[in-house]
Amino acid sequence: MYDAFLNSYCNSHPHDTVIELDLYQEPLPYLGDIMIRGNYKTSKEMELTSEEKALHEIVNKHLQQFVAADKVVIAFPLWNLTVPAVLHTYLDYMHQPRKTFKYTEDGLVGLLSTKKVALLNARGGIYADGSEMAVSFVKNHLKVFGITDITTIVIEGHNKLPDQAESIIEKGIHQAIQSAKTF
Ligand SMILES: Cc1cc2nc3c(=O)[nH]c(=O)nc-3n(C[C@H](O)[C@H](O)[C@H](O)COP(=O)(O)O)c2cc1C
Repeated sequence: MYDAFLNSYCNSHPHDTVIELDLYQEPLPYLGDIMIRGNYKTSKEMELTSEEKALHEIVNKHLQQFVAADKVVIAFPLWNLTVPAVLHTYLDYMHQPRKTFKYTEDGLVGLLSTKKVALLNARGGIYADGSEMAVSFVKNHLKVFGITDITTIVIEGHNKLPDQAESIIEKGIHQAIQSAKTF
C-alpha cells in the first residue's frame, strides 16, 4: 500500500521533494527521565549534560523534519492491537510545547493546522466495533498538533477472511493509488 501510494504520488506530483523515513533504521530511544529533563532544560536555555544533549539532538532532528514537511504520510501496520513501538516513540518526540502545540487558557492549541497527513494502515482483523487502537491512536496525537486534514486508507480483514484477502488488498491498493493523486 505504501509503495503504491508513493509511486502514484511521485507520478502525479513530479516537482515535489519526497523524503522517506524508515523508523526501523533510526535510533529511537524511548521517552524517559533523561530525555524529558533535556527537553525541559532546552526550553529554559539551560546547559545540558552530554547524555541529555545526545537524546535531545535525536528528538530535535525528527521534530524539525516533521514540522517542516507540508505533507506527511504515515504507513503502519496494526500489531498487537496498536501501533508498532517505534511509531509510538516517534509520536512521543513530536509533543513539544511551542513547536507542535501551545498551552492557552482554553487548553492545548495545535500549531500545525496547515499540514496534510495521510494514514495508511493494514490490519488483519476487522474492527468495525470501534475498538481499533492504531489509527485512532495516531489521530489523537495529530489532533493535539492541530492537524485536521487527514486522509485515511485502511486495508482490513484479509487475515480474518482469507478467501477474500486478494480482493480486500487489491481494493485498498487501488484506493491508495487514487488518493495519492489528489493528496
Ligand atoms: C506481530 C503481529 C501482531 C499482529 N497483531 C494484530 C492484531 O492485534 N490485530 C489484527 O487485526 N491483526 C494483527 N496482525 C496482522 C497485521 O495487522 C496484518 O498482517 C497487516 O497486514 C500488517 O501489515 P503489513 O501487511 O503492512 O505488514 C498482527 C501481525 C503481526 C506480525
